[in-house]
Amino acid sequence: MENSYKKLFENNKNWVNEQLSKDPDYFTDLANGQTPQYLWIGCSDSRVPANEITGTKPGEMFVHRNIANMVIHSDMNLLSVLSYAVEVLKVKHIIVCGHYGCGGVLAAMGNQQFGLIDNWLRHIKDVYRYHQEELDMIKDPKARANRFVQLNVIEQVNDLGKTSIVQNAWAKNQPLQIHGWVYDINDGIINDLNVTFTNTNKLHEVYRFDKKQE
Ligand code: CO
Repeated sequence: MENSYKKLFENNKNWVNEQLSKDPDYFTDLANGQTPQYLWIGCSDSRVPANEITGTKPGEMFVHRNIANMVIHSDMNLLSVLSYAVEVLKVKHIIVCGHYGCGGVLAAMGNQQFGLIDNWLRHIKDVYRYHQEELDMIKDPKARANRFVQLNVIEQVNDLGKTSIVQNAWAKNQPLQIHGWVYDINDGIINDLNVTFTNTNKLHEVYRFDKKQE
């Protein structure tokens, strides 16, 4: 039987010993609870490990990952993570981090069927349609894909801002910033797209719950 999984247990024991040699109270402290400042919404891609690329340790980052780092407002998993992170953990920053070379984004650009996942990719195809004019003008397929990755992140940041969870936190003056980043798998660098929201001001008004009724 293929048993490459066994090395994961060995790695785990080595890691435990390493932590304990640095700090004997490491696990006792972590067992007392978590107070992460960040919620990370990233891609499931194995090349984009949230903690490793941001130098954060266990306890510092609450993490949600799915294919192409999507914020879909009917996704109970995303909504539950978001609600817990904002309302209970009171994270100060939510980061949507996409990455260049994202298989989900590339698949969504094409016309091939992939099976069940096509239903997920359709949300990404919608983003293409919203930005078709800009994207179709980029002739180089790689440059077009990279811009699509960025636009997809920006769209997801907007989608976060549209949620009642985020807007209710802002209405209570709870400090909460939502950011859009892109990780470059070619050099390991995270780029800030500078689309940070700290209130509803930049949201399309039809999505604002704080808009005064005339
Ligand atoms: Co990806």
